[in-house]
Order: sequence, then structure tokens, then C-alpha cells
Amino acid sequence: MAHNNTQALSSRAAATHIVQECIESGMSLGTLLPRYLEQTKLEQRPLTQEMSFGVLRWYYRLNPLLNTMLSKPLRGKKKSLHYLLLVGLYQIIYLDKVDYAVVKETVNTCHEIQQSWAKGLVNAILRRFIREQDDLLAPLDQSYSSRFAYPDWLINHIKTSWKGIQTLDVILDAGNQRPPMSLRINAQFDYALYTQQLLDHQLEFTEPVIAKTHNQAIILDKPIAVDKLPQFSEGALSVQDAAPQLAAGLLAPKPDDVILDACAAPGGKTMHLFEYQPDVKNIVALDVSTERLKRVEENSTRLNIPSDKLTLITADASEKSWWDGQLFDKILLDAPCSATGVIRRHPDIKVLRREEDIVTLVQLQAKILDNLWQMLKPDGILLYATCSILREENDHQIKAFLLRQSTKEGRATEKIIDEPWGHTMPYGRQILSGEQNMDGFYYALLKKESQQ
Ligand SMILES: C[S@@+](CC[C@H](N)C(=O)[O-])C[C@H]1O[C@@H](n2cnc3c(N)ncnc32)[C@H](O)[C@@H]1O
Repeated sequence: MAHNNTQALSSRAAATHIVQECIESGMSLGTLLPRYLEQTKLEQRPLTQEMSFGVLRWYYRLNPLLNTMLSKPLRGKKKSLHYLLLVGLYQIIYLDKVDYAVVKETVNTCHEIQQSWAKGLVNAILRRFIREQDDLLAPLDQSYSSRFAYPDWLINHIKTSWKGIQTLDVILDAGNQRPPMSLRINAQFDYALYTQQLLDHQLEFTEPVIAKTHNQAIILDKPIAVDKLPQFSEGALSVQDAAPQLAAGLLAPKPDDVILDACAAPGGKTMHLFEYQPDVKNIVALDVSTERLKRVEENSTRLNIPSDKLTLITADASEKSWWDGQLFDKILLDAPCSATGVIRRHPDIKVLRREEDIVTLVQLQAKILDNLWQMLKPDGILLYATCSILREENDHQIKAFLLRQSTKEGRATEKIIDEPWGHTMPYGRQILSGEQNMDGFYYALLKKESQQ
């Protein structure tokens, strides 16, 4: 499937390849986009990105729609046509383009994906859709899966999690919205002066309504490339949603604290901890991925973090082999999770995640929690965070942890997070995607009681 010839790809062909590889090989948009954008002309890149994100966001609606129009499935070498047709349908339904121009360009793309024989078929299917769209779309609204474009298993998990608390439609709809470009202004820079600089550059923004001291979040009215942001290379600001920006204030590092950031890469929260409290003694940033840990290093260079204050370790947080036996004052566990709270930013999660992944993730989270708890000082604090909206990874996980710990030395107790954001859960606090324009996030603060 990889495209080898030297000619630049059109945006439609590139999007076709990206969607096909994501669905068939399970590769993420984060991996595929840079690879294919390199092969498309500069001016075609925004449309390539828009169509790739869009088709994956709406895949569970577009795919059944296309299947109803195909007399028999496109298999083998013809499969790329299926994805080209999804790209065509996406543009007709969701983009502000002239329908017949989309048909013409999609037909022309057949040649580029080595399917010249199918021009008539593509033309016929897209034209039929334009003629009969109301009749073809109406039946799709009968099921939640094809109405909101989510797999059934995920809808069931979300439904079970939020019954009686939030309506399913609101949650599913929020995951389909385009996310804003949110920034974190470095607390070591003057907030008023910096925001004035943004306005001087005609960069309009709003401040999210999260009333946590030290929160430096702003939301740009229009996304722009980071190198256009004043003083980006000097570390004045970082790209980060407002919800993960709550972590530093909740953990509230103090001077001379030694902190473990257990699943740290790419380092968004690690860097925020330094900005919040530059006088920490050391932050150990640990991650299982060496590749991803490099991003922590790059970020620490841009943000001028003194190298003697940051220790980078590639290791598995569910194991002890990397640990020197020194207890930590505070631990941040931003656990590996389903990422169902950030579907609006990463719509490929809808097609990449499998139901069985949830069980595996819940087990891994529990194992990491139990392991790290032994590394925390008495009276120390552990902040458990996920970007999941599934309760089995969040308050149910913490409930089970507190129960396991209740009979052990160094008992865990919960510190209530009483804040004007999110939902109070039986354990911890949950933000659902889109609430106060934030990503879906969960936090629980756990204190290790000193032994009597
Ligand atoms: C949600 S991301 C962390 C985001 C990061 N805290 C930030 O704010 O930029 C989860 C991270 O956990 C790492 N991870 C997954 N399993 C792990 C394990 N067993 N031990 C350590 N890190 C793990 C992944 O490589 C990934 O970088």
C-alpha cells in the first residue's frame, strides 16, 4: 500500500491510503499523517488532513452508507476503491464543496490509485448519493452506531458508565466536534504581558472557565502553526488542552519535592510541574517508550529545564527493576488508558480501539497503581489521571484500589477534589469531553496514611 513513486500524491489519493492503512493495519493517524503529508504538495496538505480525520470521525456512518450502495463488496486489490468512495462521500456530506466537482475529482483519482477501470462505478455511486441522499441517510439515524458514528461496543460502555448522569447523545456528539487549539502559558512568564502580546499579533483567544489557581490555559479562536506564536521557541507556551492542565495544580508540587511522573511522555504534564514549581528537587520522568521519552527531552530543552532536575528513565511502571529504593514525595500516574476522552482530537481511536483492550488496560492500570504505591512516602500524594470517560478505568478502578489497600500498611485514603469543573464521582472527579470546552479527563487524589 505504501506509495513509492516520486510523483506527489493528490490529497484524495493520500487520504484514501491513510484511511485504508489505519483501518486495515491498525496504524494511528499520528504515525500515518506525517508519512503521507511528506508525499503530498504543500498546498494539498490541509485538505488531506481534513479528509483523513473526517472519514475516520464518521467511518461508522459512512461505511454502512456505502455498503448499502454497493451491489457486492470491493475486495482484494479493489479495496482501495472502497476507501476512495468514503473520501468522496465525506466531502459531499460534510465539506462545503460543489458536489459535482467532488464527483469529477474523485473519478479522476481512480487512475492515481491504479483503479482506472472503476471510473464509471465511482461516478455512478456518488451521483446516486447526490440524487437520493435524504432516503439513503434516513435509515442510518435508526441506530446509535450509524447516527453518531461509534462502534456498538463503545456505545454500550459509555451508556453503562453514564446512565442517569449524562445523556448518551450529548457525550457521543461531543466526541464528534472539532477540538479547539488550547495553549498553556508558562507560569514563569508574565500572563498579562504575554496575552497582550498575543492580541498585538491579532491572535484572539478566550480563557476557559476553570477556576484553579496557577491554571494558565487559553483557547485560540483560530488554530495556527506553533512557530507563529510569539516566543514559542523560548518556552513561553505549550500546546495542551485545558483539562490536562489541571494536573499540576492538583498535585501542587512544593520546593525540594522529589516527584515521579510515571507515564510521562511526551512530557506535557512534566513540563507543567516545572513551570508551576521550578524549585522542585527532581522529577523522575519514566516511560516505557524510549522513542516517546525523546519528546520529553526535546520539550525540556525548549522550556530550559535545568538538566540536574530532570531524570529520564525508560522502564515499565508496573515493575520495580528501575527503582533505587528512594521514596517519592509525590507521584503523578497519567495512566495508559482507552483515550476515549480525547476522541474529538483523535477520531482514529474509534476504529483502532477494541473492546478487549479495555480489560487489558484496566489490569495494567491496577498493576501500575499497586506497584507505585510502594514507592510513595508516608503522607505522600499520588494523583491518578486518565483521558478516559469509561468508569471502569476511573472511579471503579480507584474504588477497587482503595479496597485492596485498606488492609495493608500505608493505607490509601482519598482526598476529595472539590472544584468548579467536572462531575463529582463516588471516587475522584470526571470531566466529560466538551465540558467547558475541555477534553474528557478523570482525576483522583490519593494520600498515603502514615503508619500508627
Ligand atoms: C497518557 S500518555 C502520557 C501523557 C503524558 N503524561 C503527558 O502529559 O504528556 C501515557 C503514556 O504511558 C506510557 N506507558 C504505557 N504503558 C506504560 C508502562 N507499563 N510503564 C510506563 N509507561 C507506560 C505510554 O508510552 C504513554 O507515553
